[in-house]
Amino acid sequence: MKARVLSGIQPSGNLHIGNYLGALLNWVRIQSDYECVFCIVDLHAITVYQPPAELRAKIRELAALFLAAGIDPRQSSIVVQSDVHAHAELAWLLTCVTPMGWLSRMTQFKTKSEKQETVGDGLYQYPVLMAADILLYQAQIVPVGDDQSQHLELTRDIAQRFNSLYGDTFAVPQTHLPQVGARIMGLDDPTAKMSKSAEGSGHAVGLLDDPARIRKTIMRATTDSNPGVDFETMGPGVANLLTIYQAFSGASDSEMLAEFTGLRYGDLKKRVAEMVVEKLEPLQAEYRRITADPGYLDGVLREGRERVEPIADATVRVAKERMGLYTAKPISHG
Ligand code: TYM
Repeated sequence: MKARVLSGIQPSGNLHIGNYLGALLNWVRIQSDYECVFCIVDLHAITVYQPPAELRAKIRELAALFLAAGIDPRQSSIVVQSDVHAHAELAWLLTCVTPMGWLSRMTQFKTKSEKQETVGDGLYQYPVLMAADILLYQAQIVPVGDDQSQHLELTRDIAQRFNSLYGDTFAVPQTHLPQVGARIMGLDDPTAKMSKSAEGSGHAVGLLDDPARIRKTIMRATTDSNPGVDFETMGPGVANLLTIYQAFSGASDSEMLAEFTGLRYGDLKKRVAEMVVEKLEPLQAEYRRITADPGYLDGVLREGRERVEPIADATVRVAKERMGLYTAKPISHG
């Protein structure tokens, strides 16, 4: 039997090349080796206010982007988190075994809550819901970008705590980072991670940006005061551009050295921009094709749900049973 993979992306903001290189591209690469569940995590998105009409549209946009990037719905299940009730149900069970101290250490909570006027409890519980997404499917492997590593550690801790309190119930998952592109930085500020919620047009390249905009954003990227590429002394802006190129092209380290050593920054940016445009154009064409047929997308999401629901329901039943909760048809009293 193939090992199971689970990962998810929030349908908030615009998907950017960081999400693509950190997560989506890796999903596409590994999907034939595993049994994969890819989730549009809308319950995570509402941990900060989302205008309902926008959220509704973003969920469909994200599903179409999964497909356009190359997720094959005959092989992998694409599901909307809120459409599978067991996610929220397991999240509650796990909330009850998660010490508050563990959650208060989460750096993403600290950064995100600083930006909010009112911090909803959902934002605090966010990593527990993420643990539920993963543990629900007994996923062994979770392909994500580097910013999710701490949440994955917490997921392992929660799984182990539950297992030791109530008996072996959950698989303990491994984090799977891409070799190149696990942390793409902002183009305007290469000391900060590229983020969906960051303001400003120079910050990120969106997966649906047109070629002119992609070129403009990359040509304006922050670099440093060296005259050209020097792999020994380069600053974070140049390193980020090279990472983007390498992750998109698949070039080896020695190919990168040979191609870019000494190149002036203007030329470096041009090559990076052309590579990004070249790789995103087919994805965008596929996106337009998919969104022209809304019925197809609905079918994919329905099939995804139907395929994963029995797995998710079975896990919740076992977890409830182990905790001593009432289940109409008890499985065992071990
Ligand atoms: P989200 O929606 O913020 O990001 C989706 C994926 O993109 C990766 N990523 C990046 N990778 C490289 N460079 C960047 N600048 C960059 N920014 C984002 C993220 O690491 C992620 O893999 N909590 C998650 C969603 C989630 C999830 C899950 C993930 C919910 N449940 C279960 C895995 C398993 C999040 O907010 O991702």
